[in-house]
Amino acid sequence: MKFFVLLGSAVSLASAMCSHGTSLSPRSDSIAAPSFGYTGTIGPLGWHSIASGNLECAIGEEQSPIDILPGVISSVSGTTLNVQLQNYAHGAELENLGTTLEAFANGTMFLNNKVHSLRQFHFHTPSEHRIDGEHYPMEVHFVFESADHDLAVLGFLIEVAGPGETSLPVLRNVFRHVEDASEFGEVTHTGALNFDQLRRHVRDSDVFQYSGSLTTPPCAQNVAFNIVRNPINIDVSVYKRVKKILKFNSRYTQNHPGEKNLLDFARDILDAN
Ligand SMILES: *[C@@H]1O[C@H](CO)[C@@H](O)[C@H](O)[C@H]1NC(C)=O
Ligand SMILES: [Zn+2]
Repeated sequence: MKFFVLLGSAVSLASAMCSHGTSLSPRSDSIAAPSFGYTGTIGPLGWHSIASGNLECAIGEEQSPIDILPGVISSVSGTTLNVQLQNYAHGAELENLGTTLEAFANGTMFLNNKVHSLRQFHFHTPSEHRIDGEHYPMEVHFVFESADHDLAVLGFLIEVAGPGETSLPVLRNVFRHVEDASEFGEVTHTGALNFDQLRRHVRDSDVFQYSGSLTTPPCAQNVAFNIVRNPINIDVSVYKRVKKILKFNSRYTQNHPGEKNLLDFARDILDAN
C-alpha cells in the first residue's frame, strides 16, 4: 500500500512513525503498512518524494538525528526532567510496526515548565544519534507529548554489555517474547517492566538537549530531544535477537542544527553541474 498524503493529513498516515500514538498520528485499530523504509528510493534519501507532507525531510534545517558534540550541544542534569515511568508487573504490549518495535507504557517528564505524557517507546538499530562521532548498537526513544501537543523525546544510547559488565534487566524483559512479534502487525506481551533503575540512570546522568525533528517521515520539526549522555547496557544475546527482527532502522546523521539540510546541499551542487 502506498500513501500520498497532503500537508496536514498526516493523521491518517501509516502509524509506523516515530510520532505514533501522539496527536500527529493517533493509534488506531488498523495499523497501515509503512510507506517508508530504510533502503533504496523509499529509504531516508527518498522520504520527501513519498508524500508532499514530507518536504521537511529534504529542506528542514533542524533535523534529527545528529552527531552530538559535547560543548556545542548543551546539557542539563537528568534530575531536572523528573522522569516518572509506570511499572508493569504483568508486562505491556509490544508491537511490530514494520519499521520499529514499539511498546506502550505511561509516564511523565517535566520540560519547558510543562508536564509531558509518555505515549510509547520504540527502538532503533543501530543508534540514530552519535556522541562525539561515536555510534552505538541500539537506541530507544521514549516519546512524550504535552497537553498542547509539544513533542519531546527522551533517548538512551544502548551499548552491548561486555564480559563482567551488567545489563539493564528491563531491556531483557521488554524483549522476552520478541520472536512473537517478528513480522509487521504482530503484537506480543513484554515480561514484567520495572523502570526504577532506568529512572535512577537518568537522574545520575547529564542529558543533551536540542530542538530537532521526527527521525521518520514526515520529519516534522520542533521536537525537543533529550539524549541521556551515559549509555545503558543490553545483553549481547538479547541484542542479536532484536537485531534479527529490527534489521536496520536508523536515519543517517543530519547536518548540525541551523545548517543547510544535506539533501538541499547536494541538490545545489548537482544543479550547478
Ligand atoms: C495509560 O493511561 C491511560 C489514561 O489513564 C489509559 O487509558 C491507558 O490504558 C494507559 N496505558 C497503559 C499502557 O498503561
Ligand atoms: Zn525513534
